[in-house]
Amino acid sequence: MRLAVIPGDGIGPEVIAEALKVLGEVIPTAEITRYDLGAARWHATGELLPESVLGELRDHDAILLGAVGDPSVPSGILERGLLLRLRFELDHHVNLRPARLYPGVKSPLAEPGEVDMVVVREGTEGLYAGNGGLLRKDTPHEIATEVSVNTSFGVERVVRDAFARAAARPRKHLTLVHKTNVLTHAGSLWSRVVEEVSLQHPDVTVAYQHVDATTIHMVTDPARFDVIVTDNLFGDILTDLAAAVTGGIGLAASGNLDITRRNPSMFEPVHGSAPDIAGQGIADPTAAVLSVALLLDHLGEHESARRIEASVAFDLATRDHSSPGGTFAIGDRLAALVSSNVRTG
Ligand code: NAD
Ligand code: IPM
Ligand code: MN
Repeated sequence: MRLAVIPGDGIGPEVIAEALKVLGEVIPTAEITRYDLGAARWHATGELLPESVLGELRDHDAILLGAVGDPSVPSGILERGLLLRLRFELDHHVNLRPARLYPGVKSPLAEPGEVDMVVVREGTEGLYAGNGGLLRKDTPHEIATEVSVNTSFGVERVVRDAFARAAARPRKHLTLVHKTNVLTHAGSLWSRVVEEVSLQHPDVTVAYQHVDATTIHMVTDPARFDVIVTDNLFGDILTDLAAAVTGGIGLAASGNLDITRRNPSMFEPVHGSAPDIAGQGIADPTAAVLSVALLLDHLGEHESARRIEASVAFDLATRDHSSPGGTFAIGDRLAALVSSNVRTG
């Protein structure tokens, strides 16, 4: 297994160190190549993602990323020039973001119910496509546009993936989240594609919700969701909310998948570089560890992925959540649990 690791900025390297500790327990033979992409490299050389590095990254089975973004770099430079460029170049069209309330984890909601959902966020289109610009810049008549791009090809492949995931889950329920009452062009395309693909999945029940109402239900009744399929920006926002509802952003893992497997997929916590807590050793590495489990599942190492998940579940069920220990302590605990091959129901 050849893995490229991009620790990145802020808490990225802190949580990645722990994730690699855990990975080492299940796949000790994994070959790791580190790439120092991020704020420091940009400051030192002006480089974000050199072509040669992109070529090397393509030559790996998967990529593990910490986080990018730093207050010393103008907003968007690293996010667009590095993270989004990777997602676009490597055609990471399915951004997979599970959100599950583990036993023992306290939700900020009084009665959350059994929350176990997967958000299938489109990853290469929408408002992220970079289609826009500034007209009459620095005049009183300046106009800024960001045009959402939604292609039939791009929407269909992510909707198909979401249906397949829903069909494989016990509840077999899919919710399309959009804003069809206002974004009538893109909304029409998404609705039609969902309707068409649903004909091939008569076993999957389908619901539609506007994104604003979804934020209500995410807080009042998150257990209603099974699989959500949605566009790039709605999915970004909803998955931070889903993470908060299921015990915090420190637990939320994600995979940026090229379902065709032509390019390596990339796994990363949903959270960012958290400059407010970077360097303090208090970031929760669990999201990064669970991202390793998603990576292993993607590479067919299901048994190892289950071992990691079971260890996380055990740790979360037995953790003193008021004093969980720091980044290293949590990583050490998870590595020890994985090595002792703990199993939970
Ligand atoms: P953030 O996710 O970094 O932080 C939001 C809040 O969550 C902060 O209070 C932070 O302390 C907390 N938090 C995040 N991860 C945590 C963890 N593992 N354990 C405990 N607490 C945690 O979001 P932000 O502050 O909006 O963004 C900071 C920078 O990260 C920005 O430059 C942004 O562009 C970038 N970013 C990068 C990614 C990525 O690389 N995938 C994702 C989101 C944001
Ligand atoms: C995420 C992040 C990224 C996104 C940013 C940093 C480009 O918020 O991975 O959720 O918006 O997708
Ligand atoms: Mn985000």
